[in-house]
Amino acid sequence: MCGIVGYIGDHEASPILLEGLRKLEYRGYDSAGIATFSKGELRYVKAEGKIDTLESRLLKENPIGTIGIGHTRWATHGRPSDENSHPHLCNDCNIAVVHNGIIENYLELKEELEKEGFVFHSETDTEVIVHLLKKYLNGDFEVAFYKAVSRLHGSYALCAITADEPDKILCARKDSPLVVGLGENENFIASDIPAILRHTRKCYILEDGEFAVITKNQIKIKDAEGVIISKKMQEITWNSEAAEKGGYEHFMLKEIYEQPEVFKNTLRGRLKERTVDFPELGISKEDVLNWSKIYIVACGTAYHAGLVGKTIFEKTMKIPVEVDIASEYRYRDPLVDEKTLVIVVSQSGETADTIAALRHSKSKGAKVLAVTNVVGSSISREADYVAYIWAGPEISVASTKAYTTMLITEYLLALYFAGLIGTLSEEEIAGYVEGLRGIPSLAVQVLENPSYKLIAENLKEETDAFYLGRGLDWAVALEGVLKLKEISYIHAEAYAAGELKHGTLALITDGTPVITINTQKSVFDKTISNIQEVRARGAKVIIVAQADDEASHKYAEQMVYIPTMEDFLVPVIAAIPLQLIAYYTAVARGTNVDQPRNLAKSVTVE
Ligand code: AGP
Repeated sequence: MCGIVGYIGDHEASPILLEGLRKLEYRGYDSAGIATFSKGELRYVKAEGKIDTLESRLLKENPIGTIGIGHTRWATHGRPSDENSHPHLCNDCNIAVVHNGIIENYLELKEELEKEGFVFHSETDTEVIVHLLKKYLNGDFEVAFYKAVSRLHGSYALCAITADEPDKILCARKDSPLVVGLGENENFIASDIPAILRHTRKCYILEDGEFAVITKNQIKIKDAEGVIISKKMQEITWNSEAAEKGGYEHFMLKEIYEQPEVFKNTLRGRLKERTVDFPELGISKEDVLNWSKIYIVACGTAYHAGLVGKTIFEKTMKIPVEVDIASEYRYRDPLVDEKTLVIVVSQSGETADTIAALRHSKSKGAKVLAVTNVVGSSISREADYVAYIWAGPEISVASTKAYTTMLITEYLLALYFAGLIGTLSEEEIAGYVEGLRGIPSLAVQVLENPSYKLIAENLKEETDAFYLGRGLDWAVALEGVLKLKEISYIHAEAYAAGELKHGTLALITDGTPVITINTQKSVFDKTISNIQEVRARGAKVIIVAQADDEASHKYAEQMVYIPTMEDFLVPVIAAIPLQLIAYYTAVARGTNVDQPRNLAKSVTVE
């Protein structure tokens, strides 16, 4: 995820910026850069790759100056490269900008600016901001800044400097964090507190729609109309390790709690009033009509997202969907041809088996659509089409927000394709669009439920657990079990609830924990019958159900309620309690939550 650092004071800016950028490395990035003033001129240095590369360039170019802005980039628009890294400069190099977030209307702004003679040097959305600033700069940088920001749609944490007024840094925030740190005869800016914690613990946290004008002795925070706001200063009490985790004990917990915000990023620009749009995809109605089958191929959690995807695509597009584990698919000689769409799902975009599956599919003439998180990854480069999940970097080995955003991306793709070929009515699509719009706030409600720790307390001494469900609930159960196994090391299995009595029921004895997901009305009574079967053998039953379910509690030792919602969209929300149950169970057992034994975040070997 991109990071921002800014400094204004009496000291040399570049070492302070560099040190701040290093503190943001944990967030993941692919390039970095800084800009400072030197003898009235803006100097900038940027480099693809690690901060060490930037540092060696800085040593050569020595951009002196006591005001500066720095950035670590995690590619979204445009691959990782020197040109695409921030800061971005205007054509005569007297304004520099760093930006986190996504400018949704950048294509139309770019067209407008190009017609007016502005020359673009990068593939980024950010570059429009610096040209807009130049366009509006007419003796007052602040006025130009307000005008430029008012043209932007999307999300931003933004810092800008100009050689014309080299005593200030201007900032703005919408849907992307930005803090201003208070020093003595110096002030700081950062997207994340760890970047400036060594210098100050006093800061102002900007809210959406707020602007800041920062000089070395003053911080003015203003609203969208330019009126100065009096803001409460915050005192940061975390140590730097806790600050990296945003105050959470583990990255996994932080990533679980990030989900409501991250969901908005996945939906942004795609969810329209009553439809879904995917302008970046480049898939036409004719392309969709050409497919006779969809194959979803992936590993681990991404494979589980594919299992939910099967129902999503079949229900909306009325097309057969097969799902396969990438390490199996590649050796199976699967039945794919030029009439097959192969969807490869991968958070990292670097999983060896999934890359091999992608290549195999292309060799058979199939078109490949990548659902991935990492811009510039092998999978994103080799696929014919890419749909990014926009989860931001996931650091914990156990995947959480990537899984749920993979699901949301699948819903968006399916509704988009169904709209193109008319397999759902406009009303049906509008209904699901409304449901998806509500997903971030439903996620907030689920995260507020206090019951997970108690369930974990009861699970922590167990050696085995079973998860049951039917249909979409079964797919969610498979992912819930993987979470529990990989971080708590409790042996667990997920079963299609109706399948248990064909063998595995023999393992259910007095006190065996059975977590049942029972959210789908179409199979509700059937699942209750299966719950009765395990209860009759002494199982301890925990049920995940929708809030309007008045029956399940009669059959459960413990209940977990999710908000009442559209059954079809439940997997995104039902996954969250299972993530938290696994998390708190692992914490109670004292395991290494973020880096479980024997596992790696990105599996680049067969
Ligand atoms: C899940 O928590 C694991 N980290 C793992 O199963 C992971 O989903 C799998 O290795 C696939 O990774 P990818 O999404 O990066 O391809």
